[in-house]
Amino acid sequence: MPENLDAIFKPRSIAVVGTSRKDGTIGREILYNLVAYGFNGPVYPVNPKAAYVNSIKCYPSISAIPDKVDLAIIVIPKEQVLSVVEECGEKGVKGIVVISAGFKEIGEKGIQLEKELVRMIKKYGIRLVGPNCMGVINTAKDIRMDATFGSTLPLDGQVGFMSQSGALGNIILEYADELKIGFSKFVSMGNKADVSGNDLLMDFEDDENTKIILMYLESFGNPRKFTKIARRLTKKKPIIAVKAGRTLAGARAASSHTGALAGLDVAVDALFEQCGVLRATSIEELFDYAVAFSNQPLPKGKKVAIVTNAGGPGIIATDACVSLGLKMSTFDKETYKKLEEILPEEASTQNPVDILGDGGPKRYEKALDVVLKDINVDSVITIFVPPLMSKALDVAVAISKVSANYDKPVLGCFMGREEVLTSIQELEKNNIPAYLFPESAAKSIAGMYKYRELSKRSEGNIVHFEVEKKKVKSIIDNALSAGKGYLSQDEVRGILEAYGFKYPETQLVKNEEEAVNSANRIGFPVVLKIASLDIIHKSDAGGVVIDLEDEGDLRAAFKKVISNVKSNAPEAKIDGVMVQKMVKGGRETILGMSLDASFGPLIMFGLGGIYVEVLKDVSFRIAPITDLDASDMVKSVKSYPLLKGVRGEKPVDIEEIEKYIQRLSRLVEDFPEIEEMDINPFVVFEKGRCCNVVDARIKIERSYKQNKF
Ligand SMILES: Nc1ncnc2c1ncn2[C@@H]1O[C@H](COP(=O)(O)OP(=O)(O)O)[C@@H](O)[C@H]1O
Ligand SMILES: [Mg+2]
Repeated sequence: MPENLDAIFKPRSIAVVGTSRKDGTIGREILYNLVAYGFNGPVYPVNPKAAYVNSIKCYPSISAIPDKVDLAIIVIPKEQVLSVVEECGEKGVKGIVVISAGFKEIGEKGIQLEKELVRMIKKYGIRLVGPNCMGVINTAKDIRMDATFGSTLPLDGQVGFMSQSGALGNIILEYADELKIGFSKFVSMGNKADVSGNDLLMDFEDDENTKIILMYLESFGNPRKFTKIARRLTKKKPIIAVKAGRTLAGARAASSHTGALAGLDVAVDALFEQCGVLRATSIEELFDYAVAFSNQPLPKGKKVAIVTNAGGPGIIATDACVSLGLKMSTFDKETYKKLEEILPEEASTQNPVDILGDGGPKRYEKALDVVLKDINVDSVITIFVPPLMSKALDVAVAISKVSANYDKPVLGCFMGREEVLTSIQELEKNNIPAYLFPESAAKSIAGMYKYRELSKRSEGNIVHFEVEKKKVKSIIDNALSAGKGYLSQDEVRGILEAYGFKYPETQLVKNEEEAVNSANRIGFPVVLKIASLDIIHKSDAGGVVIDLEDEGDLRAAFKKVISNVKSNAPEAKIDGVMVQKMVKGGRETILGMSLDASFGPLIMFGLGGIYVEVLKDVSFRIAPITDLDASDMVKSVKSYPLLKGVRGEKPVDIEEIEKYIQRLSRLVEDFPEIEEMDINPFVVFEKGRCCNVVDARIKIERSYKQNKF
């Protein structure tokens, strides 16, 4: 199979199989678009029942075409698709786009048909887009191919777009046309039987015309491959994605904290974050980003200035910027002075700069120029609310004129519909993104800034640790053959210690006397905990008593633990009681892993203890975790400042935490049988004292196979 997609994107001739004389049919629309957009080569309609379509000579079959055909667009009932594909193969066609539906998306019968389709193209070395899609576009000057049935012809530009939904594809083409966004390539992927999102990413990576990549995704075929490609690609070109649909992680009942917290969409968020992909929450936001990215330079920093003719929208924009992590610029003294000179007394020279409702084009022009000149300004949002006396169009002209002189992003926000329409068009003509509301402008700047930061960060390394893999393998194999799901405390400890984790001293005892002996040996204060495979959350069953100072405390606690468990969990089989050294000081965190159906192991870090599910202060990344991922994970929990120490507290050893996150990642990568695990609490200390696993559980599963991904 050819690796590249030239057969799809650079055909020298195209056949449309199943075109028709009837107006409004898909086959006819495609033929029309190919011709109307000016495809740089011959187009052959194929239909046994017509001699001509759209004044072009029509052929009864692919094999009846006397010349060579590079690409075939197939728009015929699904039953006939296979035989036509075979005919294409015999004729030497190397690229096929199957528009026809009725394959995988309809269930069992369609799945079979799709499998046969894939077998057929493999046999002939054909690359295929679809089935069940709306076609492909390549606007490159030497190709000019619009092989879609879209109702608008595309503008050419820098955006490479892939959409998993055909229906949305057409709306996207229309919307882009309205916003004057031009495409380099546009692909409706359909069922992705052959050409996948990853294939397209690789194509867009090498495509000089593609500067920005937009994706509408419903599922990931191969998330691991996506990670690899996207991590590399986002260093060069921004990828902005809308991911619809939900991952399965949330649908599974989870008994671990990590599983419960790994809600609906965290895997996708984690994946995008790790790869530097910007996530848009809606198609609208996707295009808000697209207009900004395709028309303006990236901001070099996070300092924003706002120039407005109305106070309210200026405040809204300020709030939006700040809440998105941007900063409002504090201007140079010189800037304030100049603003005072050019603005009326009642105007505000502070950021947001309010030039007042009677501010016309001249005032905009001067104020914007002064502000853009200031080195404390990385980007500007200009807001215009049409009052009676000002002319919106002239203001738009003024903004466009000034912003062309600076290499800083300037975004417009013209509030209103009808009355500002021509001015919005004027801005768009001059490559100034125009938004209806200040929040959208703020979001776009924040997105551009975030992308700039993401693209600059290093890729990170998978660090190698000394571990005892064999030891863990034998524990897991034994447990599997005993039919265990949850592992015993001893097994969990054996596994974690083999991967470098440290426990406070712990001993399993069978009766009160043994507990006393053990505590004397370990040294008070100690903790007692019930040991039972049937009890997952020990404190819930009254099975944990902490901070026992002496033998008297201990004896009382022992009786209490046993009687609590007997009444709270009468069915549980008690294996004994654990005596554990009481860990003093430090901070309780949680380390965990849960398995996502399509992304594999998700690693979690956060604030631990018994309130973890209430506080939900956790972060996720997909394994394997690089040193950089681990550092990002720790930094992105809200309580990070607590770890760094507040009010004179010593900071905890953050590097140590990062190392253990990576060790955990290594463990779950090495043992795909591990289905879920929690280390909670994982107690962390200041530098010089080792982190402690105070409590951990691991669930394993035999049927889980790594090749699931
Ligand atoms: N050895 C210990 N030292 C200090 N605190 C402990 C110790 N063991 C348990 N705790 C405290 O008791 C809580 C519950 O104990 P844990 O062993 O995590 O049981 P479970 O999570 O099953 O209820 C922990 O979150 C921690 O706050
Ligand atoms: Mg616990």
